[in-house]
Amino acid sequence: MSDPFRSQLRALPDFPLELPDFDPDAAPADPVELFRRWLDEALAAGVQQPHACSLATADSNGQPSARMLILKNIDDDGWHFATSRTSRKGRELAVNPRAALNFYWPQQGRQIRVAGRVIELSEEASAADWHARPAADGTDNPDWQLYAVSPQEIEFWQARHDRRHMRHFYGAGPESGRVNGG
Ligand SMILES: Cc1cc2nc3c(=O)[nH]c(=O)nc-3n(C[C@H](O)[C@H](O)[C@H](O)COP(=O)(O)O)c2cc1C
Repeated sequence: MSDPFRSQLRALPDFPLELPDFDPDAAPADPVELFRRWLDEALAAGVQQPHACSLATADSNGQPSARMLILKNIDDDGWHFATSRTSRKGRELAVNPRAALNFYWPQQGRQIRVAGRVIELSEEASAADWHARPAADGTDNPDWQLYAVSPQEIEFWQARHDRRHMRHFYGAGPESGRVNGG
């Protein structure tokens, strides 16, 4: 039996015709340097919001949830994002301070994932982030919290048309070491 929805999905291209090269052997030792290089290339390629990523958290039962948010900075504390402590993700982070970020830049077939422990940044930094938001109306929001993911692992992924997708991994753990063509 034909399934038009399945056919519609199967007919969509996974990646654009032109994909950039990525040589993991030439990648810098610092993953933040590579991220910033890729972010600049994403902007040059017309990616509209390369600073948008999904954030996955899990509750105390291990039930995962994910949503999009905005990367605010990267420094020695980690990869910053901000949200309300009273939101679902805020409540999940309070009981399970671990998270995974995933960036996807479709124009280039590029994906970057970052995972690790999450720390709460200072009250002052959180208030400054709240007031710097475009919609800030002068009022305070004591629930607003700036967090940082302190990465245990970071993986850069570049799609290839021959399906020998390139992966470059930074960090410790079971995935340690570069895996290409996966
Ligand atoms: C592109 C994009 C960026 C977003 N950025 C943020 C953000 O930086 N902080 C935030 O709290 N929510 C942001 N949101 C809204 C979240 O995706 C989410 O709907 C909201 O925070 C509630 O999530 P929760 O119920 O899982 O906690 C963004 C949504 C989109 C689509």
